[in-house]
Amino acid sequence: MGRTQRALAVVAILLALAAVAVRWWRRPQIGRVQRGWTVASRKGCFTCHGPGGIRGMADPGHGLDEIPPFAGGLITMYARSEGEIREWILDGGARRISGTKAGKFFLERQPIKMPAYRGHLKSEEVDRLVDYINWLRQHPY
Ligand code: HEC
Repeated sequence: MGRTQRALAVVAILLALAAVAVRWWRRPQIGRVQRGWTVASRKGCFTCHGPGGIRGMADPGHGLDEIPPFAGGLITMYARSEGEIREWILDGGARRISGTKAGKFFLERQPIKMPAYRGHLKSEEVDRLVDYINWLRQHPY
């Protein structure tokens, strides 16, 4: 191979690498929060918590009358921390509440209950749901 040929080969390789880099850089980017919305939509969260999780459907019996929106419960009863959000999603309730007599009393009286999603979500999906819920909490509507 002559000098020129070698130089051309190097240029060709560099161009090919640059093309790959540009494609990688321009690939569609879906943010964590947006992905959380998609997971919530696919897993049926919005059927109970309302479109986008911003207004829950009626749920008489516990005195609050509605399923809480993702952006935070109506009272201090609902998820307070990221750990508790995970508990609600995976176990259908937080021990702080369901573990007490008063909590149980109210939770058992309502007809619609938060399902436990453990085993029905991948850990990445739970992470994105938490990202979405946290985002909603930081952006009150
Ligand atoms: C069958 C209806 C139903 C579905 C589906 C549902 N939830 Fe719930 N969720 C509830 C109810 C009801 C409560 C309120 C707790 C209670 O009163 O038992 C609740 C409470 C919560 C809470 C704690 C309340 C708060 O605002 O802090 C979170 C977080 C939550 N749900 C997230 C989710 C996510 C994420 C999904 C989807 C993976 C989902 N829920 C699907 C009914 C539902």
